[in-house]
Amino acid sequence: MAMDRLAQIWPLFGLRLRCGPVELHLPRDDDLAALADLAAAGIHPPEQMPFYAAWTREQPPGFQRSFIRHHWGSRSRWAPDQWSLDLAVRRDGDLVGVQSVEARAFAVRRVADTGSWLGMAHQGRGTGTLMRVAVLALAFDHLGARAATSGAFLDNPASLAVSRKLGYRDNGVIVHDREGVATREQLLVLSAEDWRAVARPAVEVEGVEDCRALLGAA
Ligand SMILES: CC(C)(COP(=O)(O)OP(=O)(O)OC[C@H]1O[C@@H](n2cnc3c(N)ncnc32)[C@H](O)[C@@H]1OP(=O)(O)O)[C@@H](O)C(=O)NCCC(=O)NCCS
Repeated sequence: MAMDRLAQIWPLFGLRLRCGPVELHLPRDDDLAALADLAAAGIHPPEQMPFYAAWTREQPPGFQRSFIRHHWGSRSRWAPDQWSLDLAVRRDGDLVGVQSVEARAFAVRRVADTGSWLGMAHQGRGTGTLMRVAVLALAFDHLGARAATSGAFLDNPASLAVSRKLGYRDNGVIVHDREGVATREQLLVLSAEDWRAVARPAVEVEGVEDCRALLGAA
């Protein structure tokens, strides 16, 4: 088998998380182009805004360019003490969205934060839950996280439902300037103890050993 030289140099390209029909991997540039078009086709109705920065308002072709620059930026700024792993999500092989997990000073803090989106056609089928479970399994079972944090605006019931059904606890409320309107975000936290307290869907993790140093989890 031909050696994947890029994945040897940058082992995060060799990381694979699988949970039922869902697979997560670092997107290559062709994946980014497809994800940019998927996002441009719509993540939420125009009257809603689930994100802290209103990045989904930009119009094509600037939208797609900003999208791929954001992903390239995460890669180029990567450091073991501050990283954002922005993973492509496939369901039954099709690209459906992005699941991010990020950390600052993970070696010391052992806290991972998550964020995600799916194309509108792919929402409400349980994918959001499985992709969150996949990165939680990475963080808790393979990297030794002690807590995972998340958050969602109070008017985002789907995101809040995913967190709550996985056992996150409320962790305070903060106020954002959302497109000029003061809007409350529910902060959420899941401890390692709460993660281990109940049975979880099985997650297969491939390639993590070679990524440990990059993730500050050697
Ligand atoms: C948030 C998101 C990733 C969740 O993914 P998903 O595949 O839709 O989520 P799931 O199907 O796994 O679960 C959604 C849950 O929300 C619940 N839900 C959805 N809409 C709801 C509503 N209006 N009121 C109450 N619950 C609702 C569903 O019933 C489901 O819970 P259940 O499995 O207990 O029935 C996805 O909806 C999305 O991309 N939304 C737009 C972007 C976004 O909000 N990103 C997160 C920013 S914090």
